[in-house]
Amino acid sequence: MKIRLVGLLLLLLPLLVLAGPLKPGHDAVASAQPYATQAGMQVMAEGGNAFDAAVAVSAALSVVEPYSSGIGGGGFWLLHDAKTGKDVMVDGREYAPAAATATMYQDKNGNVIEGASLNGPLSAGIPGEVAALAYINQHYGKLTFAQDLAPAIKLARDGFPLDPRFHGMLVSREDKLKQWPAAWKAFYPNGVVPPTGYILKQPDLANTLESIAKHGAAAFYTGTLAREMVDAVRANGGIWSLEDLRDYQIKLRTPLSGDYRGMKIITVAPPSSGGIVMLEALNILSGFDLTHDSELMRKHLIIEAMRFAFRDRAEYLGDPDFVQMPLKRLLSPYYAAGLRAAILPGKATPSNDLAPVTPEAPESQHTTSIAVMDKNGNLVGGTFTVNFRFGSGFMPPHTGVILNDEMDDFVSKPGVPNGFGLVGNSANEIAPHKRPLSSMMPTFLYTTRGLAILGTPGGSRIISMVLLGTLDYFNGGDAQSIVSLPRYHMQYLPDTVFYEPGAFTKDEITGLGNMGYRLEETRPYGNMQSITWDYKGDKVTAAADPRDVGTAQVK
Ligand code: DON
Repeated sequence: MKIRLVGLLLLLLPLLVLAGPLKPGHDAVASAQPYATQAGMQVMAEGGNAFDAAVAVSAALSVVEPYSSGIGGGGFWLLHDAKTGKDVMVDGREYAPAAATATMYQDKNGNVIEGASLNGPLSAGIPGEVAALAYINQHYGKLTFAQDLAPAIKLARDGFPLDPRFHGMLVSREDKLKQWPAAWKAFYPNGVVPPTGYILKQPDLANTLESIAKHGAAAFYTGTLAREMVDAVRANGGIWSLEDLRDYQIKLRTPLSGDYRGMKIITVAPPSSGGIVMLEALNILSGFDLTHDSELMRKHLIIEAMRFAFRDRAEYLGDPDFVQMPLKRLLSPYYAAGLRAAILPGKATPSNDLAPVTPEAPESQHTTSIAVMDKNGNLVGGTFTVNFRFGSGFMPPHTGVILNDEMDDFVSKPGVPNGFGLVGNSANEIAPHKRPLSSMMPTFLYTTRGLAILGTPGGSRIISMVLLGTLDYFNGGDAQSIVSLPRYHMQYLPDTVFYEPGAFTKDEITGLGNMGYRLEETRPYGNMQSITWDYKGDKVTAAADPRDVGTAQVK
């Protein structure tokens, strides 16, 4: 009898192994800042789950990386609840104030006023991060909001030593922040750029976070803090109202789900363009056997898939609550088959034949991404931002909160490129309470081998970075290789392939040049965070992008 039971178990063992364990048995965090990663690990050690940790990491980043993201900004958090098996997208993207209009950044001759959508309070959308974090804590967390926010409050109150990256940001943004006294005082306490190692304390931000911890999101969207923000915004040329803040709500959206040759992809839906563009590109690529192509041919096909998918971004995408988008068509395999057939073997398709050229997108690393997993298999991927470095630069006095310049993600005028060189049309024009189109895309990948969480900043380049990371995971990569991978990018317009040093070999550069590509080497870009879990051997790997100062921990 005993022998039979053992026999049965031995028979079932391979099946059990194949099915994979239900829980990773490890907590893991990857973020762009060591203090934020630590905040996440700390709340999980205190009994919190991955959702608590995501709240703690996000809040801590608003203190230690305020040039990238913060409670004056917004973003997307992708959640996987292990208990129900459900995925949900928390859309905490900013929306436009009610007084916003489609032509608000144009002069009376219809020309776009340079910098108007990028500087000062007129460039700020109504922030969504506080509402998103409160929602995640309330509906998914195990700890109180105050517990999740405690590490961030401590970092703001007691301070932390500036690293070279933060110092560099302050050097590069000195002129911008000098215009706004509260921001100047907060980040240049002695009237000069503080040196690396300086202990930066942010008492106003600590008070603001404390009040949110005590009274919830209402402390930010109504009451004294809301009035202080609205008064300061309006006194300095902005158009926020108390009602804009009071009426702000996160949106729960069904994530997009896609398939690439048997790998399941869960990613964000509009108002991010990231999911649609990547899935469209993957649909095109899924008809090729990339593993059997030469590296040169593989890169040619990936670049062309990026080109076609980015073209549709410019044409169709915007806030789903405002515009009708042909999403079914864009994601249909028949549509992808048509585009695939249009790819010329061994030859670049000139984008210039199809639309006017736009300037190059600037290099950028000022948004942030997190990956969190807990031992029970709850997952969070988040990408959130104040948009460009230190957002609008504007800080309402006494709040410690840097306001975003997310309004630049709208189309200021059809055909005129935004800060990332992206063009668009009426689908992404400004309207009251509309959300600007984003490229941010935290993503989950599932194969029979395991799963991956990945995401990165980088404006329009986010999409190509996540696409390359996705293909790397499909080919057997882990968190470390996903974040390290050399990157290349094509966004339809400009008709140029941007690539990091090492992304192409010498022969590939010659080969792609012969195919008609215009190539431009860039500085390293992106700041990807990733966690992978191999079911076999229960192996959890977390990694922060080696290009920057972030850290990852597994316990
Ligand atoms: O939502 C977007 O697509 C942009 N606001 C993201 C900005 C960004 O990634 C800047 N960083 N590097």
